[in-house]
Amino acid sequence: MNPSRRNFIKNSAMAASAIGMATVVPEKVWSSVVAPSDKINVALIGCRNMGFGILKHHLDTGLVNCVALCDIDKNVLKEKSETVKKDYDQSPELYGDFRKVLERKDINSVIIGTPDHWHCLIMVEACQAGKDVYVEKPMANTIGECNIMVKAAKRYNRIVQVGQQQRDNKTFKDSIKLIRSGEIGTLRKVNIWANFDYGLGSTPKPDGPVPEGVDYDFWLGPAPKRPFNPNRFHGSWRHFWDYGGGLMSDWGVHLLDMGMWAGGLVEAPKKVITYAANLSKKEMQRETFDTMNVIFPKDDYVINWDMTAGIQVGPFDSPYGVKFVGENGTIVTTRSKYHLYPEWDNQKKEPKAKEVSFDHSKDSHRDHVDNFLECLKTREKPSCPPEIGKAAALYAHIPNIAARVGETVLEWDDENNRFTNSDKANELITPEYRKPWKLPNI
Ligand SMILES: NC(=O)c1ccc[n+]([C@@H]2O[C@H](COP(=O)([O-])OP(=O)(O)OC[C@H]3O[C@@H](n4cnc5c(N)ncnc54)[C@H](O)[C@@H]3O)[C@@H](O)[C@H]2O)c1
Repeated sequence: MNPSRRNFIKNSAMAASAIGMATVVPEKVWSSVVAPSDKINVALIGCRNMGFGILKHHLDTGLVNCVALCDIDKNVLKEKSETVKKDYDQSPELYGDFRKVLERKDINSVIIGTPDHWHCLIMVEACQAGKDVYVEKPMANTIGECNIMVKAAKRYNRIVQVGQQQRDNKTFKDSIKLIRSGEIGTLRKVNIWANFDYGLGSTPKPDGPVPEGVDYDFWLGPAPKRPFNPNRFHGSWRHFWDYGGGLMSDWGVHLLDMGMWAGGLVEAPKKVITYAANLSKKEMQRETFDTMNVIFPKDDYVINWDMTAGIQVGPFDSPYGVKFVGENGTIVTTRSKYHLYPEWDNQKKEPKAKEVSFDHSKDSHRDHVDNFLECLKTREKPSCPPEIGKAAALYAHIPNIAARVGETVLEWDDENNRFTNSDKANELITPEYRKPWKLPNI
């Protein structure tokens, strides 16, 4: 790494901790910091899939009481509460309205496992109520909401972990260490691919009646009102702009975060060059794109994103992966393995780097949760604080915005929160919330 970049990293880290120290806790915050000996009282908001997985990792530590489960779907609540009782012998109270959960003074932290369009509002209100927060990725569904969440965590002095668990994944951590140590020489490129079948969405279904036990208006929340459609609901909501960003944001935040991490700077992309299209001939129900190629030029290397929904085959026998290309070697990394391929030195007749291979299948969600729980006690910054969650989210949201408004090149001015070369793109920075929900003002 060059010296100027190294200094920048050091200065950014110092600046970040200085900001953390300067925050003032407002009066509204009431719950106290967890004492090292206490069990942590946790609530889960949004229980069906990933949120419940994260709750189980919390409970598996033995350090946590699950005191509340909240979901707008009573069927989900019933099923998940039965599992918590059976597997952990705990009986959380059940809620349909997250605001009632946040009124409870005995709750230390909340897990937010709702679809993306709800993350900002619930996270901000949780921070205002003095709760620490584990919020799933992408941190929010828009750039504007990400900015609000960064401010909220600082203003209310909360520990906030964003669910980008690869920040605690051994294979990616080792790869980054190898890059920092200079093993692969000057970093030139980070090439990322993501090919997944589910990115095409679901087979078309007509609008229909709201299922029994579901509060659909609450599920929509701040998103525009529209008739119920099973494809725009549990699980498959991620292919519709009002609630998610498709494969680009689903996997993009995880993998592009690694591209950003490799360079050592937490920063939003400044310039983004996007190709996006729907090239699959399959008739599926979705609004998001199935094919996206995006270039993110950085100051001294480039990140390339290559995404193909509906295709599962990829380079190095993996549907997804990150290839860190350096002058002396290339590291190819997935969540379960990495391999360093050295360049050959023709003069010395030896490899320019040491070939390394590592293979393991450990899931990193648990390590990410462990880091969060540790930070609840130490009050240190977690491994993926909102600043990183925001920056990674912008790597996904900016190409999506570019594709939606038909701009090939977008230039982003993060300080002034605007695109400098597209008025149409600027209109998609901040969402309009459906009444009575209000975009938080921090
Ligand atoms: N970190 C990862 O690897 C990973 C993997 C998958 C999903 N995720 C993220 O997790 C989040 C949830 O995704 P999912 O696949 O579990 O979605 P899902 O649709 O399966 O579950 C979401 C749940 O939230 C509930 N919900 C919706 N609005 C609510 C509200 N206002 N209050 C309470 N409950 C509400 C729904 O009824 C549903 O039970 C998303 O942000 C997604 O991007 C992360």
